[in-house]
Amino acid sequence: MTAPKRAEPGGELLLEVADIVVGYGRIEALHGISLHVAEGELVTLLGANGAGKTTTMRALSGLLPLTSGRIMFEGSDISRVPAHRRVLAGLVQAPEGRGVFPGMTVRENLDMGCYARPFRNKADYAAAVERVFELFPRLREREKQAGGTLSGGEQQMVAIGRALMARPRLLLLDEPSMGLAPMVIQQIFRIIAEINATGTTVLLVEQNARQALARSDRGYILETGAVTESGPGRELLDDPAVQAAYLGVG
Ligand SMILES: Nc1ncnc2c1ncn2[C@@H]1O[C@H](COP(=O)(O)OP(=O)(O)OP(=O)(O)O)[C@@H](O)[C@H]1O
Ligand SMILES: [Mg+2]
Repeated sequence: MTAPKRAEPGGELLLEVADIVVGYGRIEALHGISLHVAEGELVTLLGANGAGKTTTMRALSGLLPLTSGRIMFEGSDISRVPAHRRVLAGLVQAPEGRGVFPGMTVRENLDMGCYARPFRNKADYAAAVERVFELFPRLREREKQAGGTLSGGEQQMVAIGRALMARPRLLLLDEPSMGLAPMVIQQIFRIIAEINATGTTVLLVEQNARQALARSDRGYILETGAVTESGPGRELLDDPAVQAAYLGVG
């Protein structure tokens, strides 16, 4: 069942990032980034290798401290809230590189997603597992298979499924298409769009610019730690500068 989107672009702000500076030791990686995500949106962050995409995601999920700036989530300042409490609040990241536990089965990997945010009752847990298996029928087939023996695409499905088990209000996805074959990438993008269409707001980091922008409400372009461009996904797709730099056109 596909529910309508809860909010159209321009709806209530879920995430508001104001001028964040983040560094590694004395090296500044983000030089004051501002962006926002409204409830219901699918927003993509694009940028070349080393632009600061993962750094941004890790700062949002609380794995990297801010040097300065502010992160607001649902109207509260979470700039200094520790990572596990951000998960409880509904800010959930599927990490770059998937992080599937190789010795655990698919089901056990999914269970790790709700470890930090346990379900109140078995029925809710069962419904959440069922939703993941409906989105990823392949995972149902492989429920008892060890994570380490899954294909790259299947591991990505586990990583997204595990994040969904924490019931995100905002799902952060860092390069879900990395290293996957074109057919599998298509499938992952379709599922991300479906997750968004059924009510989960998504902030997506991608290098697959064309596919990501085509499905996004809005996008931001990140260059060496700063936002250089932003706008509706379709407008960025038609922007000659974006085409030349990220779409292999011109
Ligand atoms: N642990 C670290 N220590 C020091 N510098 C780091 C660390 N992690 C990242 N950096 C630096 O911060 C900058 C941004 O890196 P980041 O990983 O955020 O880029 P990215 O946009 O995610 O790139 P990619 O597309 O390759 O994943 C880079 O210059 C990188 O070398
Ligand atoms: Mg990265």
